Amino acid sequence: MSDGKVYPVKEAAKSRALVDKDQYMAMYKESVDNPDAFWGEHGKRLDWIKPYTTVKNTTYDRNNLSIKWFEDGTLNASVNCLDRHLAERGDQTAIIFEGDDPADSRHVTYRELHQETCKFANALKSQGVKKGDIVTIYMPMLVETAVAMLACARIGAMHSVVFGGFSPEALGARIKDGGAKWVVTADQGVRGGRPIPLKKNVDAALNNPEVSTVEKVIVVKRTGGDIQWQEDRDVWFHDIMADASVDCPPEEMSAEDPLFMLYTSGSTGTPKGVLHTTGGYMVYASMTHEYVFDYQQGDIYWCTADFGWITGHSYILYGPLANGAITLLFEGVPNYPDSSRIGKVVDKHKVNVLYTAPTAIRALMAEGDQYMKQSSRESLRLLGTVGEPINPEAWEWYYNVVGDERCPIVDTWWQTETGGILISPLPGATDLKPGSATLPFFGVQPALVDSDGNVLDGATEGNLVILDSWPGQMRTVYGDHERFILTYFSTYPGTYFTGDGARRDEDGYYWITGRVDDVLNVSGHRMGTAEIESALVAHPLVAEAAVVGYPHDIKGQGIYVYVTLNHDADPSDELKTELVQWVRKEIGPVASPDLIQWAPGLPKTRSGKIMRRILRKIAANEHDSLGDTSTLADPSVVEDLIEYRENA
Ligand code: PRX
Repeated sequence: MSDGKVYPVKEAAKSRALVDKDQYMAMYKESVDNPDAFWGEHGKRLDWIKPYTTVKNTTYDRNNLSIKWFEDGTLNASVNCLDRHLAERGDQTAIIFEGDDPADSRHVTYRELHQETCKFANALKSQGVKKGDIVTIYMPMLVETAVAMLACARIGAMHSVVFGGFSPEALGARIKDGGAKWVVTADQGVRGGRPIPLKKNVDAALNNPEVSTVEKVIVVKRTGGDIQWQEDRDVWFHDIMADASVDCPPEEMSAEDPLFMLYTSGSTGTPKGVLHTTGGYMVYASMTHEYVFDYQQGDIYWCTADFGWITGHSYILYGPLANGAITLLFEGVPNYPDSSRIGKVVDKHKVNVLYTAPTAIRALMAEGDQYMKQSSRESLRLLGTVGEPINPEAWEWYYNVVGDERCPIVDTWWQTETGGILISPLPGATDLKPGSATLPFFGVQPALVDSDGNVLDGATEGNLVILDSWPGQMRTVYGDHERFILTYFSTYPGTYFTGDGARRDEDGYYWITGRVDDVLNVSGHRMGTAEIESALVAHPLVAEAAVVGYPHDIKGQGIYVYVTLNHDADPSDELKTELVQWVRKEIGPVASPDLIQWAPGLPKTRSGKIMRRILRKIAANEHDSLGDTSTLADPSVVEDLIEYRENA
């Protein structure tokens, strides 16, 4: 919520931006009144091998669902990110690599990136990869990671990047779901000065007999640390690159051919493989990158995300490179060697646009201004946030301290599923309100609905849906189209349901209030409560578990776990520690429970459904507003839980 403060568009932003307020409104109107003409024109921002003649072919009718954009056009994503820039800016930097160690950085030009990509594309072919295959990428933040992704795109293979912080179990489950035959990894990653045993994790994932499809593991040498080697399976990246040709003609891809898949958590079941296709995704990622960040040639742009998340795909790699941008790739963490790092990297590389997550902002804010003040940050012109709602205090700190009151903040709301930003200010067009993602991007028609699906008018609050398709939208859940329809198009028929709640104010500004389903957002990382629960009940001493989110100062949401133990188990502090370790092993450190409460019983309806609403209230210490508990099978359970919570 805001205290009503409004930050008008800055003159400096307006005078250089692509669009001002009037132009935004005119273009927005055209984009929804006549999407074919609008996107037909803006689709030309890419280089097409065969130009499209049709633009939008979409219906949200769940019985007949179809989402196709530019469907008869052909193109190649890597050509749009690399080849087409060579004539004009082959020697310009494409990627600035900033290592974990502050002494380690280098520039990679478009020409070099093109060469490396072509070589690795040929190397992948030599390992048997063809169009339509899936390649799992489990990597630290390295230039080679970008090369691997682009090389897949070049030969028409789908990459499936798995965040390097996931455990062997989580990695294995993602490999198994897609059935990848190739994994690209590194011997070790380095973050905050500490090695991350990536190859060892891959070995462990593949040791599971259920993960049986992988034939080759390609290993980038990052640290030279000790690793095990399986002769018939493992190959060094540098070995297969050594004699690979730099000439690799791009595969001609149909606009609707898959570009990549990326797993994300939902409210039920295992993570879903979100599938994005080539044409619409690339148009949307590049256009949003240009307009939202007001990207102009020569600007130095830094998005601090990881390639393991959609933000890394759309706004470190594909969007910026399609625009011929200079994109900074950071291997490290914001607080290493200390909390002055972000500001120092900004100064070192003269960064103009900084795009990061509220959780990082809150963590730096908690360290105190003195760290940020060790840098001038005078090169900055624009700030961005993504991943979770930003509280107005953190927004103000970002604005006042990091941006020295000079830089607009674009609070960008979007999702893995949306491919690119859907709701965000444009720096030259939108007055800012701290905590609000503000207004929709071109072609995006948000609406708020009540629980019966009625569209609500005016200033109100409700469930956030999108009424019509935009080019960057996901096309299916890999291997489970039914689940795609069920998850996104069945709750409020005829609309895309985001899973988020939102408020709309008198100015039509959107304020995202958070998930309305059983998805947690912990430090900007999305996690399903069901995933964590199933990890917990796999422990031999756990009879039942329920997981909810609760407000956490730094992480946004913390993970609160209610555990019912088996009769013979001792509810000790040691067991709590063991359960935390257990979840870290099953999923990864991102899923570490913050608080575990022993629960002699869980509040359930008479039909056996756990009442999470009540558990959320208890976790948040809002005992006075539990609501109706009379439908519980055993209302006394609630008293017990409150008592435990108070004594915890
Ligand atoms: O709840 C919203 C929150 O993050 C969810 C999407 O998570 P994920 O697919 O991992 O993608 C994150 C990066 C795009 C959304 O459903 N979210 C994302 N951005 C914002 C946000 N919540 C509030 N404000 C945002 N700017």
